[in-house]
Amino acid sequence: MADKEYAFGEVLISEEQLAERIAELGKEITADFAGEEVLMVGILKGSVPFLADLIRKVDLDVKIDFMSVSSYGASTKSSGVVRILKDLDTGVEGRNVIIVEDIVDSGLTLQYLKEYLSGRKPKSLKICTLLDKPEGRKVEIQPDYKCFTVGNQFIVGFGLDYDQKYRNLPYISCLVEK
Ligand code: IMP
Ligand code: MG
Repeated sequence: MADKEYAFGEVLISEEQLAERIAELGKEITADFAGEEVLMVGILKGSVPFLADLIRKVDLDVKIDFMSVSSYGASTKSSGVVRILKDLDTGVEGRNVIIVEDIVDSGLTLQYLKEYLSGRKPKSLKICTLLDKPEGRKVEIQPDYKCFTVGNQFIVGFGLDYDQKYRNLPYISCLVEK
């Protein structure tokens, strides 16, 4: 890996497409939880731009919180190891919880988080992801809400990083070799 250099490639999903789809998803969540309160749990750090845009399209009593779990580091392959680095500040019991992720790849992170949070007796527990990469799946897990499906490429931009870079791209792109 050390001798390879990477950069970001073409625009796969534009700013306009992101905004349009996130607004639709916000409406869907608003309708599904009408009259209820929801706790949206962003998984740091990749979900931050998505969560920030999504909550402004949800017309409900919304609370937010964050969790941080161990991720890939500088590699583009899943280690399969999930470790909680930061837990929630908010109680989960009796709440409608929506886990907000940047991307579901192997599904290992979400499988772990779902089990972990369901143990705390939420009223409901849903998974919402910006991107779904079904070809990468190692465990049976399906997001309840998603914006876009992507192929088996390494995605960067709009929160998604490679070695902590490119999170600030306003659109979705993929990693290419220089
Ligand atoms: P999973 O546990 O394999 O489903 O993925 C866990 C995490 O890996 C995601 O939340 C992302 O932070 C990261 N990840 C997976 N695929 C990609 C990608 O294509 N680009 C950037 N990060 C990714
Ligand atoms: Mg992540």
